[in-house]
Amino acid sequence: MARYPEDFLEKIKSRTDIVELIGNYVQVQRKGRDYWACCPFHHEKTPSFQIRADQQYYRCFGCQKYGNIFSFIMEYDKVGFNEAVEILAKRAGLEVPELVFAPEAKARKELIEKIYDINRETARFYYGNIFKEEGQPAREYFAKRGLDSKIVNVFGMGYSTDFHSLPEALLKKGYDKKTLLEAGVVSQGKSGELIDFFGGRIIIPIIGGNGKVLGFTGRVLVPKPDFAKYKNTSTTLVFNKRKNLFGINLFKKFRQGDTRAMILVEGHMDVISLYQAGIQNAVASMGTSLTIEQCREIKRYADVVYVSFDGDSAGQHATLRGLDMLKNEGLDVKVVCLTDNLDPDDYVRKYGKDGYMKLLDEALPLIDYKLKKVEEGYNLDSADEKIKYAKAAIDVLSELDTVEKGVYAKAVAEKSGLKQDVIIKQTEQAGNEQKTTGVTEGTPKSVDNEPTDMLKAAEIFVVSSLIFGKPYVDIYSFAELKKCFADEKLLAVIEYFMKYIVEKNELPKAGDVFDIVEDEKLASELVDNVETINVSDQQEYYRQCVERIRNNYKNKELMRLVAELNNVTDENKKLKIREEIKNLTKAQTK
Ligand code: UTP
Ligand code: MN
Repeated sequence: MARYPEDFLEKIKSRTDIVELIGNYVQVQRKGRDYWACCPFHHEKTPSFQIRADQQYYRCFGCQKYGNIFSFIMEYDKVGFNEAVEILAKRAGLEVPELVFAPEAKARKELIEKIYDINRETARFYYGNIFKEEGQPAREYFAKRGLDSKIVNVFGMGYSTDFHSLPEALLKKGYDKKTLLEAGVVSQGKSGELIDFFGGRIIIPIIGGNGKVLGFTGRVLVPKPDFAKYKNTSTTLVFNKRKNLFGINLFKKFRQGDTRAMILVEGHMDVISLYQAGIQNAVASMGTSLTIEQCREIKRYADVVYVSFDGDSAGQHATLRGLDMLKNEGLDVKVVCLTDNLDPDDYVRKYGKDGYMKLLDEALPLIDYKLKKVEEGYNLDSADEKIKYAKAAIDVLSELDTVEKGVYAKAVAEKSGLKQDVIIKQTEQAGNEQKTTGVTEGTPKSVDNEPTDMLKAAEIFVVSSLIFGKPYVDIYSFAELKKCFADEKLLAVIEYFMKYIVEKNELPKAGDVFDIVEDEKLASELVDNVETINVSDQQEYYRQCVERIRNNYKNKELMRLVAELNNVTDENKKLKIREEIKNLTKAQTK
């Protein structure tokens, strides 16, 4: 890899103002210290793309893209670094010098190649184990799950017989310890010895669109409590669970003609089973809630995505957000409704290829699915519930364009007894006005009947707005607000990022969140939240969330104080508690 000399890059930087540069591509508006625009890299209606003139960087709080003048041009013009340099040099009226050779870049590239080698060797080793005498448990496991040798071969599945034979074999082949650790196939024991990272597990290699082994997933043969059923390679130079999709290699290979339809499932075993049944266009998100990176990867290969999540998770809050993300990437999203709490693996084994294909035929467009979920939450025989139903349905409709609204409003009108044009008018208000009803994904359950879910959503939204420096956040208010949070895991997160932002005077990167928040699900929720939350006015929604958090805290405090009052006998103490209660209720009605 060759690069232009550092001082030349500096010269370009000094002659290019990022605000002016970006202003040539999108409309930029000054707000306080910073400039804001609608992000040129993803679809949005309200600006979440921040440009900081003093630090000469941009960052989108929606799609997480960030960088300087060079990365902006790379991203916008879809060019490599050197080409971006040339474009900017020309703009700045500078002559372009000779390229220089950068040794670090070369070393990195070589390391990546070495990791791919190690991964390939490792996959071979695990595969070979199946046929050894010690491979008996794996053979039995495959038989038990109905996986024949052909399918095991197609997916290159394997088995780790123990904790030491893989590292031994790899060291013998001449790979050094450090690189093996970098590849993530081994970890280090207490006395420095290498241990097979997937010791004793059934192995499923994750193969990229380039046909190379990126990493692995290991499944225990017999699930035990306190033991993760599935384990993935940690992040390496070539593997990142948030970006990769399982099965993408086969999807690419077997995609028929120009059909750009993809089935998205949760589990590896779902992909494998479907494939065995003759359905070869499924990929898996590998368990965690869908990330923006995965959505983009899907869009690279597909135009229509059939989301086929496990029966119990399809309607959940995080899932619905994932579906919105897919839609925002421009995909046609269809939701496959699995019955009886079955996953695609169970379903296709029980009802066969035809049974599953029938489900695909019956898959609902995203809007229909959301409306169906809304409808399920209310008893439409009751007048009162009909109104609630209409309100929730209107929230769903408000994200549609005018033509679509017309079509769907008719159905909602029939069910709710309201007039169609009243409904359309309401959707316009919900969409445009400052007023907002809060979360609009179509689960009335989480709006009305599940205060804890709403509270959790509110807490996550507020913290995620803090982390990503939303303009409406007053960071210093967190000193007091902190105590009101119900989820204790978030306290440490708030502490950490308040300190980070105040001390470094810059915003954290999405990656930092993953380093700090151990619970990966929570981390992805925090990272994806600000973009995917579907409200017409984030600032107002933020205010509502803060209010919800405060109210919950006050109520809890109140209950605690009342209980305490009943327990103490000392009149002085009683007086004090009464005083506290009075203060609390005063604040509440304000
Ligand atoms: P499931 O628990 O639904 O498993 O996890 P499954 O697909 O039905 O697998 P089998 O049939 O029991 O073998 C779905 C996906 O979630 C991720 C994995 O990617 C898995 O395929 N997962 C699950 C983990 O990463 N870790 C776990 O401990 C469990
Ligand atoms: Mn399963």
